[in-house]
Amino acid sequence: MFKSKPLRLGLLGHPLGHSLSPVLHEHLLKELDRPGNYELLETPRYQLEDRVAALRTDGLNGFNVTIPFKQKIVPFLDEVDEVAKLAGAVNTVLIRRKKLYGFNTDKPGFEHTLKFHDIEVAKRQALVLGAGGAARAVVLSLIHSGIRKIYLANRTMTHATALVEDIGLATGFFNFITVPLNAVAISSLLDSIDIVINTTSVGMWPNISDTLLEFPKLQKELIAIDLVYNPLQTRFLKSAKKSGATVVDGLDLFVFQGIEAMQLWSRRRIGHDTAYAKLRKLLMEHLENYGRT
Ligand code: ATR
Repeated sequence: MFKSKPLRLGLLGHPLGHSLSPVLHEHLLKELDRPGNYELLETPRYQLEDRVAALRTDGLNGFNVTIPFKQKIVPFLDEVDEVAKLAGAVNTVLIRRKKLYGFNTDKPGFEHTLKFHDIEVAKRQALVLGAGGAARAVVLSLIHSGIRKIYLANRTMTHATALVEDIGLATGFFNFITVPLNAVAISSLLDSIDIVINTTSVGMWPNISDTLLEFPKLQKELIAIDLVYNPLQTRFLKSAKKSGATVVDGLDLFVFQGIEAMQLWSRRRIGHDTAYAKLRKLLMEHLENYGRT
C-alpha cells in the first residue's frame, strides 16, 4: 500500500514555552493518518534571517510563524499569497522544492470564529487593541466582513498608523480612528462600539493579572474577544463577562487557524466542525494540566 511521506513541521518564534501548537498539529496528523512531527523552532530575533535560510534546505515541509516574526519574516520568503500580502503578516509557511511560500491563516481562522459564534460585524463598530501581525489579520477580516468603523489602540502609535496606512491603501477602507492605549481613552469608547478584540499578548500566562481594560459598567450589547488562550479566561474576558458582555476566548481562533494551516501542508480538506470539537477538548485538557508550567 502507498505510504505517505512524513510531514515535518514546526513553529518559528520567540519565546515558545507556552505553545500548544505541537499538540494541535500532532493531533491533526493522527486524524489524517499521516506520519510526521511538529517541533518548536525557538529563534532569537537576531537569528531570524539565518534560521529561515537554514529551514529552506533542511527537509522541513512547513512551519507556523508567531510572535515576534509574523511581519518580520515577509522579506525572507519567495512568495506571499494575496491575504498575507494585504495583511502584511504571515503565520504559515509552506516549503516546496526549497522555496518558501507565505500564507495568513489567522484571517480565515478569525472569520471562522465569528461565524461559529454567529457574530455579525457588518455595519458595526469595532475597537481593536494592538497593531501587530495578529491585529492586521483581524482588521482585514473585519473590513472584508463589512465593518463600518474601526478604532485602533496601540502602545506604539507609529505601529498603529503604519497598519492604518498599509491596510487602508490595500483595501480602500479608511474609516479608522487611532486612539492612545490607555484605560481612560479606551473605556470612553465602550458606548460607541459593538465589538472589542484584544490582539496583544497582555494577560497571557504568567502575567495573568494584567489587562488593557476593565469594563466599568453594564455592557450587555458588547462582544469581547481575546486572542490570548492561556489562560482561557483572561482578566479582560472575566471583566467583560461580569459586565454582561458576550465573550469569546482565544482558543477558537487558535484551533481554526491551525486547521487552515494543516490543510495547506497536507493538501487535504479537514471538516472544521468535527475537528474543532475534538481539538477544543484536547487543548482544554492540556491547558488545565500544563498551562501553568
Ligand atoms: P503578533 O504577531 O502576535 O500580533 P506582534 O506583531 O509582536 O505579535 O504584536 C504584538 C502586539 O502586542 C503589538 O501591538 C504590541 O504593541 P507595540 O506595537 O507597542 O509593540 C502589543 N503588546 C505587546 N506587549 C504589550 C504590552 N505589555 N502592553 C501593550 N501592548 C503590548
